[in-house]
Amino acid sequence: MSAKHWSRDDRSEYTLLTLDVQGKSANVLSREVLEELDSILTDLTARPPQGLIIRSGKKSGFIFGADINEFLEVKDEKIGADVARYGQGIFNKLEALPCRTVAVIHGNCLGGGTEMVLACDYRVARDDDGTRIGLPEVRLGINPGFGGTVRLPKLVGDLAALDMMLTGRALRARAARRIGLVNDLVPERYLLTAAEAWVKSRKKFTLPLLKRLPGWAPLRPLIAAMMTRQVKKKARPEHYPAPFRIIKLWLNAANYEAEAISLGQMMVTEASRNLVRVFLLSENLKRQGKTIDHGVSHVHVIGAGVMGGDIAAWAALKGFRVSLQDQREEAIAKAIKRAYGLFRKKLKDKRQIEAAMDRLIPDISGDAVRHADLVIEAIIEDEKAKQGLFKDVEAKVGANTILATNTSSIPLEVICQSLKDPSRLVGLHFFNPVAMMQLVEIVKGEQTSETMLDRARAFTTAISRLPLDVKSSPGFLVNRILMPYLIEAMELAGEGVSLATIDQAALKFGMPMGPIQLADTVGLDICLFVAQELSEPLGITVPDALAKMVAAGKLGRKSGQGFYRYDKKGHAQKPAARSSNVSVADRLVMRILNEAKACLREGVVANIDAVDAGMVYGTGFAPFRGGPMHYAEMLGNETVSHTLYRLSEEYGKRFQPDAGWS
Ligand code: NAI
Repeated sequence: MSAKHWSRDDRSEYTLLTLDVQGKSANVLSREVLEELDSILTDLTARPPQGLIIRSGKKSGFIFGADINEFLEVKDEKIGADVARYGQGIFNKLEALPCRTVAVIHGNCLGGGTEMVLACDYRVARDDDGTRIGLPEVRLGINPGFGGTVRLPKLVGDLAALDMMLTGRALRARAARRIGLVNDLVPERYLLTAAEAWVKSRKKFTLPLLKRLPGWAPLRPLIAAMMTRQVKKKARPEHYPAPFRIIKLWLNAANYEAEAISLGQMMVTEASRNLVRVFLLSENLKRQGKTIDHGVSHVHVIGAGVMGGDIAAWAALKGFRVSLQDQREEAIAKAIKRAYGLFRKKLKDKRQIEAAMDRLIPDISGDAVRHADLVIEAIIEDEKAKQGLFKDVEAKVGANTILATNTSSIPLEVICQSLKDPSRLVGLHFFNPVAMMQLVEIVKGEQTSETMLDRARAFTTAISRLPLDVKSSPGFLVNRILMPYLIEAMELAGEGVSLATIDQAALKFGMPMGPIQLADTVGLDICLFVAQELSEPLGITVPDALAKMVAAGKLGRKSGQGFYRYDKKGHAQKPAARSSNVSVADRLVMRILNEAKACLREGVVANIDAVDAGMVYGTGFAPFRGGPMHYAEMLGNETVSHTLYRLSEEYGKRFQPDAGWS
């Protein structure tokens, strides 16, 4: 039969199978792709070749995993288990072929892709940092289901396998070689030659005793308990059941059938459905950043403070030539030092670190702005200063240069008043810390041109950040929704609810950090500034206590004292939580839901998906709940507005249900 996605080349010494999924830029294992592979393997089983080499025809990598869109079609756990059995059956066929089988890996090899290469006899990988091999299923709230939980521990040892499956982290080529996940690392041009040599190999690998020991039956319960303890530090079983399930599968020395049944059960959990939703939201944002060429090779950043310095470093890390301007030389020097730290952490290789440093150019005079395709302004939050700066910049740059501001509160319509062509000003609102926060709000002023927006989105995607379209309005999306939540936490503290109780309620809901600690981490001066900016347009009351703390120099973690006191290592000294009769979680979460609804009603973003993506990737809002608006839908509009109404009776009009609920 002829295959659409696989091409088969029967050579004298082996058969070469190349996967190049039609109509996609990356290979994924959809049902159709698996069916074709199944039929090819049936044929090869009947007439075995002398060897088999499997590779990808895509530049983007080997195989990214299963087709996640198909996950949503799995209606019940029985169907989910059948999906797993089907995939397992195919990979078992691959494993059972009487000839040597070799996988050639480059770029991303994830999930089902990794499970496929595990079923081969040998694995050859391209020797560079672009090669990543992993089992990220846990991040989607499921366990590997195509044989990974069974084969991986046998190949690399139990501890290394558990580490990969529990964190979902993908290994780079060298790390994969070190644990024995791949047999050979070679440069691109030798990949096939190396694979040809392995086809003839008779080499057998056995795991050293030390790596097999943790799998020894009497030791398993101990190791499982240790792993469970470790995972519990990061995830609660009631929020994220998948890692605990993976440990259980391993404890019971998983077999294929147990793995399949478990996959079916995990796929239909609320957590997995929501994690899949959140993943697809991020993919959707990425797609929006791929509609046009950004046309940027040189970025000029003005303002080398907390934000500008880190934005410049991040863009240089991602391959752009970046000049960094500030009126203070020491600000640039500090930013370059921080950038070096970032490059060392992310790049590891000395030559790459040097190259990144070369791309980041200190520019005290600001002359380099003339060469810029994109100018990002991140100076102090002052209307006049920004207007003056852009007037000056516009006179120096070419007609196609994008002008972007990182302002968090000044309307674009005001900043652009000094420009001859105001349509070229767009907001690129990054979050702090830039290296950790994936979201960038793409702010559209009334005057901003569509082309500038398209290019800004494309640039954001090119630096591996998620672009979210927002309207130029107070606080945009993320700060606007976050602020009432932080202020509610401060109100609770003012009423005498213990700080630890407030934070614990948020953690229990699923936030990555409690609001009190978050306020301390962001900096109380910054919280105060944003709260003041939003107080008039949104009717927010700034807590007195906040202003007093800032006046007293208690700025949060950076000053050693905020709501909490911090030790030298920056760890909060938390007093014990005290029980409270107040419905802390309700009050915190309802403020988020109500403000999110208002943003939606006012068209700050386009739809529910945009609100949810913004809050998950801009603040870490409990991903397993699928985002605030999705969570509200689960509760039901009526329940939410009823709860808000009840809270407004008790605590006042800040809880008044937004008109959007009715
Ligand atoms: P910062 O105070 O750390 O840095 C501002 C830098 O700009 C200073 O180094 C200063 O010397 C320099 N500067 C001031 N006027 C200048 C001029 N005319 N020419 C050249 N350099 C000049 O401020 P930060 O926190 O980095 O904020 C910068 C911008 O980013 C602001 O608009 C702020 O609202 C926004 N922002 C801040 C966030 C944060 O968490 N700090 C988050 C998102 C946006």
